[in-house]
Amino acid sequence: LIVDASDASGRLIPETLFGIFFEEINHAGAGGLWAELVNNRGFEAGGPNTPSDITPWTIIGNESYVNVETDRTSLFDRNKVALRLKVLCDSEGDNICPAGGVGVYNPGFWGMNIEQGKKYKVVFYVRSTGSINLTVSLTGSNGVGNLASTVITASASDVSNWTKVETLLEAKATNHNSRLQLTTTTKGVIWLDQVSAMPVDTYKGHGFRTDLAEMVAAMKPRFIRFPGGCFVEGERLRNAFRWKASVGPWEERPGHFGDVWMYWTDDGLGYYEFLQLAEDLNALPIWVFNNGISHTDEVVTSAILPFVQEALDGLEFARGDPTSKWGSLRAAMGHPEPFDLRYVAVGNEDCTKKNYRGNYLKFYGAIKQAYPDIQIISNCDASSQPLDHPADMYDYHIYTGANDLFSRANTFNHASRSGPKVAFVSEYAVTGNDAGTGSLLAALAEAGFLIGLENNSDVVSMISYAPLFVNANDRRWNPDAIVFNSYQLYGTPSYWVQLFFAESSGATLLNSSLHPIASNSLLASAITWQNSVDGRSYIRIKVVNFGANTVNLKISFDGLDPKSVHQTNMTVLTSANVMDENSFSQLKKVVPIQSTFQAVGKDINVSVPPHSFTSLDLLKD
Ligand code: AHR
Repeated sequence: LIVDASDASGRLIPETLFGIFFEEINHAGAGGLWAELVNNRGFEAGGPNTPSDITPWTIIGNESYVNVETDRTSLFDRNKVALRLKVLCDSEGDNICPAGGVGVYNPGFWGMNIEQGKKYKVVFYVRSTGSINLTVSLTGSNGVGNLASTVITASASDVSNWTKVETLLEAKATNHNSRLQLTTTTKGVIWLDQVSAMPVDTYKGHGFRTDLAEMVAAMKPRFIRFPGGCFVEGERLRNAFRWKASVGPWEERPGHFGDVWMYWTDDGLGYYEFLQLAEDLNALPIWVFNNGISHTDEVVTSAILPFVQEALDGLEFARGDPTSKWGSLRAAMGHPEPFDLRYVAVGNEDCTKKNYRGNYLKFYGAIKQAYPDIQIISNCDASSQPLDHPADMYDYHIYTGANDLFSRANTFNHASRSGPKVAFVSEYAVTGNDAGTGSLLAALAEAGFLIGLENNSDVVSMISYAPLFVNANDRRWNPDAIVFNSYQLYGTPSYWVQLFFAESSGATLLNSSLHPIASNSLLASAITWQNSVDGRSYIRIKVVNFGANTVNLKISFDGLDPKSVHQTNMTVLTSANVMDENSFSQLKKVVPIQSTFQAVGKDINVSVPPHSFTSLDLLKD
């Protein structure tokens, strides 16, 4: 490998090259990154009708003690369903309540993670025909074991109208599979609505589960594409994600059933929270909005204007003056300053749909007129032929087998250099048998693909893997970058491959050539960058060996004085078997291992293991 180490002959890599794609899939948000512990907090999961589907809420006490049903008496207009408990038993008299009382419990998303010493804020709305005496507790999965509890009492006059209750519970013990209980031993009728339990400590105080957010932050993403994917489209339009239903006070959001990934979301993680997440990660938000097209139904172009207005309103919400109609809602939610929204994508994977071009042009014209600086991303692939409509970027998605993805490292070698269009590779991954639930093989093919994209970063300006997250209790898509349950998490090898590229955005790509091309299983790239923390300059060489043989590689540098190199660190991702995966029992079976490398003289000789991804970091003056 010959590397021209002089910065002057290199080319700047876009500042935005590597980012993330967050989709509400696999309970990535609800029961994942969004730290809310209660699942279906408004008893609304069955939709607006009653009786509603209160799952996973479960009744404590049989029918001779308590009758539980839903009605439409909620305080909140957009989510009218409330839970009505008619308590038939008492602490004395002829129908004494069972020990512990009667009521309901919520097990969260396959168990709530409650940790000793941590505080949890419980909020709910209550109304009653009489006085209340309600025990709020966090217990083990079977109701046994009191992790934290408090008793809420109020006189009849205090709760004759809907009343908000807030309480702080501090856990006395740890249980990863807990539940929240609301119980009583007082006869009467009680209504409950919008029950929430949030850990007090969340990432940057904004409601994101800290361990998951930190794992994402380690990727140093420069952008976040959200909130989908198919989630944006919906199987049917009526079930698509619509931003206006996801903003404002959390209690007032209607929630919706995502009919592609087939689960209910309370939409606590809404449009505002996504913009906040981008800001917290120091990443630019890329908003994908519905363009009037779902998997099965479409709005014709002649009727698309309400959707166009909805997109314009969404831009005003993100960027508008705090005194504007939608900007003032953002300000009221806690963010008077505009969010730095510069990119939007018109729909997802809809290029071949009947009304796509017509609808797209309406969005394009209206957005460019109101916000000329906004970069608009088309769903149509222009990697091999020019677009037939105006766009600032085009979206490129690829899910395939390992050999195929590795061979696609050169996809953009021949893309037009003369046109203004650049690619956003917003979804890529090895899928199918080669991938399992996250194999080394898949990750190495992706490493090769990414090296090809990095070398073509004059025409590829953004790259994100998909999907980012999976709650192991609800795998809707395999594989994924980060796997978690209520308390554990690990990166698949595909996650770790992405970390090798964390310094690439905004770095300088150095000219490098592999020759003689000893094997078509080897791909390499070289970058140089300045570390903002220590202010020092580094060169990083990345080499993927997709083959089954060790390769002895000589790396020669033009324009580099060996005396200026202080230290060389080597990081290798490999494993005994190419199908090896990480798991909850072996979180770190396939992770990068770092060592110091003794470089002697002008050239570096490295033995590159079979089926491996290696980086060499040279610390310069
Ligand atoms: O990443 C999973 C899905 O794959 C996305 O929702 C969609 O855009 C693609 O088909």
